Amino acid sequence: MNPTRTLIKEILSKSKGTLFLILLFNISAAFVSTLQPLLFKDLFDDILPGRQIGTAAFYMLLLILIPVIYAALNSVTSYYNNELGNHLSKNLRLRLFSDLLQTPPRKVDSIGRGEIINRITLQVGMLCEIFVVDTLMSLVSNVILLIATLWIMFSMSAELTLAAMLSFPLCMYGFRRFRSKTERLDKQYHGILDKGLSYLNDFFTNLKAVHRCNGHQAEQKRWSDWNDEVWKISRQSRVFHHVVLNLVADTVVSLITGIIYGYSLYLILKGRISPGTLLAFIVILPRLYNIFKSLFTLNMDRSRMTVIINNLNDILELEKIESGARAPDYSRVPLLQMRNVSYRYAPEDSFGITDFNLDIQPGAFVGIIGLSGSGKSTIFELIHRYIEPDEGEICLDGVPIKELDLHELRQYVGYSPQKGVLWNKSILDNIIYPLQKEDMDEETWLRFNAAVEMAHVNTFVQAMPEQYDKKVEGHGDNLSGGEIQRILLARAFMNEPRILMLDEYTSALDAITESDLNDTLLNLKGKQTILVIAHRLSTVKSADIILVVEKGQIVEQGSPAELYARRGIYYTMVEKQKI
Ligand SMILES: Nc1ncnc2c1ncn2[C@@H]1O[C@H](COP(=O)(O)OP(=O)(O)OP(=O)(O)O)[C@@H](O)[C@H]1O
Ligand SMILES: [Mg+2]
Repeated sequence: MNPTRTLIKEILSKSKGTLFLILLFNISAAFVSTLQPLLFKDLFDDILPGRQIGTAAFYMLLLILIPVIYAALNSVTSYYNNELGNHLSKNLRLRLFSDLLQTPPRKVDSIGRGEIINRITLQVGMLCEIFVVDTLMSLVSNVILLIATLWIMFSMSAELTLAAMLSFPLCMYGFRRFRSKTERLDKQYHGILDKGLSYLNDFFTNLKAVHRCNGHQAEQKRWSDWNDEVWKISRQSRVFHHVVLNLVADTVVSLITGIIYGYSLYLILKGRISPGTLLAFIVILPRLYNIFKSLFTLNMDRSRMTVIINNLNDILELEKIESGARAPDYSRVPLLQMRNVSYRYAPEDSFGITDFNLDIQPGAFVGIIGLSGSGKSTIFELIHRYIEPDEGEICLDGVPIKELDLHELRQYVGYSPQKGVLWNKSILDNIIYPLQKEDMDEETWLRFNAAVEMAHVNTFVQAMPEQYDKKVEGHGDNLSGGEIQRILLARAFMNEPRILMLDEYTSALDAITESDLNDTLLNLKGKQTILVIAHRLSTVKSADIILVVEKGQIVEQGSPAELYARRGIYYTMVEKQKI
């Protein structure tokens, strides 16, 4: 199964009207173009020798008009070709993007961001251009032209036509021999473009690090190496295409044309063809060879297409997150349960969540602590279905989260991540995301006002001249770490989730702001279930229950006072954090 080909067929099936018009104009152009050699033959064999001046003038007029009509028909065809190409590329890009949106982020990263950007923009454009303009339409028009041309040629001289067609198998043989080389070069070329975009994506993400670490020279070298490689491959590819086309096609064709002219003179001397037929062949032969040449180029285009189609297949074949259909019950705060959940990022990984069991009562304030790398964030990612458990089940009020509508689940369970990244838009846009300012109504503005108050965003935004319109730059580079955390927190509050998961939301905050936010969370206690991951234990000191996670398992569980009295890991951590 080839998903890209299936998708192309599906899209084209909706453009039957355009396809019909293209076919119609192609047939008309083929018909018009075959008239010219016939007119020449008549002119030189009958009309001129018979001195029929009136008819000759009329033929002259036709000879002027035919190329004009032919050019007009071609330009209309090319307009519709473009229409079809644009329709195809637009729909392909839309479908690829929608597939990416349904793919877990980790799987998207398995291809690489630069690669994906290249594929869904440039490569789709190339594919449609090659496919529609150079391949599909060129095939249609060339086959029609070929049939029409051969028909005319056969009607004039079967012997000469057969001789002219000699070049066809010869060229075909030559091109077949070079096909695998063309394919290899095309694959290398797209591979290197993918690498370049991937590098640029990486470079801009790390721009500050380049300056901080004096990486200018190293980056200049990487960029220059990439450019050298592109130059090398595109040169090889250009030379190869040029040599193959010129050497194989042009040489064979010129040789055979020479032979045909010689042979025609011989046939004229023998009286088997008229001079008019030779003239008609002189007009028609370059046209026939152009058709041959286009058909051979098609062979190379096919290999270019195969490379791009395989790249797009990689995207379309990425695993998708399947959404359930049930809607969660917003009227209540649910019981959160994890039942024998096990998960490994990769089978060979030493780290894994193993046989994880958890019951979190509605409205509880839960602190999750543990050493770095113990699996705390992984638990949140499982609950938000960024990743799926290998075994076991996560349920809300007894309903497996897989059965819930994914969109609803992520609204029902709010998540402020540890490594938050902002959009390069205004602070307001970042908080109300995915809503747009123009979508906001009275009710959403009320939620917004409450969210910014609760997350203490007002305190720093009011000091900014542009206030909520302040543009975020570099995904948050022009804001402090604590400001970013509070913007993300406000975004999580905006949806009024029934479960709120906060991962290290105070790590960049001063003690006073942290204490204010703690008060906010205490006010929410009972109304929402709150799960807070924190290294700083003061953040979770008011929690109802603390879970201590170690190597993907819960090793201690209880109220802060109980755990302190037990003198285990929690006790040691509290003692170590005392000044
Ligand atoms: N996308 C990923 N692919 C592979 N391994 C991962 C991925 N994300 C995390 N890990 C690994 O899983 C383990 C647990 O990571 P996790 O982020 O859950 O730890 P954590 O307890 O949140 O740590 P920290 O307190 O430092 O944030 C780590 O060893 C980490 O290297
Ligand atoms: Mg973490």
